[in-house]
Amino acid sequence: MASSVVVQIHPDPDKQAYLETLLSSMDGATYIENPADCRENQLILGFEDDRLSLTRACGKENPISVDFVGGKAGHRRKFGGGKGQDIAKAVGLNKGVKPHVLDATGGLGRDAFVLASLGCKVTVIERSPVIAALLEDGIRRAIADPEVSEIAGRMQLIKEDSRHAMASSLSLGKQFDVVYLDPMFPHKERSAEVKKEMKIFQALLSGDPDADELLEPALKLAQYRVVIKRPRLSPELGNTSPTYKLEGKACRYDIHALKAF
Ligand SMILES: C[S@@+](CC[C@H](N)C(=O)[O-])C[C@H]1O[C@@H](n2cnc3c(N)ncnc32)[C@H](O)[C@@H]1O
Repeated sequence: MASSVVVQIHPDPDKQAYLETLLSSMDGATYIENPADCRENQLILGFEDDRLSLTRACGKENPISVDFVGGKAGHRRKFGGGKGQDIAKAVGLNKGVKPHVLDATGGLGRDAFVLASLGCKVTVIERSPVIAALLEDGIRRAIADPEVSEIAGRMQLIKEDSRHAMASSLSLGKQFDVVYLDPMFPHKERSAEVKKEMKIFQALLSGDPDADELLEPALKLAQYRVVIKRPRLSPELGNTSPTYKLEGKACRYDIHALKAF
């Protein structure tokens, strides 16, 4: 069962105004002045310095926020293996193309940022208003940073359920080169850090039980391929066999190839 979210009041009027806008987009969320007043497991959304972050009341894990400039994203951008990475091969970047990718399960935008840093234009859709707010904040800070602003400028965020967004695009006759899907899947992670982050994600989202519904519209919307990121041993999305699979160390990419690049 998803935990409730509280938004922490901020003394800076601009940040407070932004938090008020966020609050109005979140069903059932309320304000809190002092995090110490939170109930156990409630999730607290607020600014830590200039960064929007989400933390679990009484939780031991670090708060979640999006940082495309430093940290893991920065390291991967500089030393991550470029077009040799599995995700790059999965979307077809090794064929010398830079496809426009629709990432229909945006999350914290890590995969989208990798693709954008390799030159793809990426339209990112995220339906959780809380996760979308963290991602929007990460893109905002990245755009303000000269080192990554060009990359972040290739990312466009849509805060919506991608089932609706994909249906609207289809009705307008709009297509994307590649549709990328990475819905949540209940699985055991080995890394302690991922475990901690997953705790907050699971407290917020209670999984993506409707993930199978994404496949059919994705197959109609993509011109060249649909790429699905899955945990290595998990079943195929929608119980539908892909054209081929790319087995990575940490995950698997199922590729529905529709047309050659
Ligand atoms: C495993 S996370 C994706 C992680 C992401 N690939 C990354 O690199 O950060 C799955 C995300 O997909 C979102 N999601 C699932 N179904 C969705 C839908 N129908 N529309 C929009 N977002 C969806 C969830 O809210 C969750 O944030």
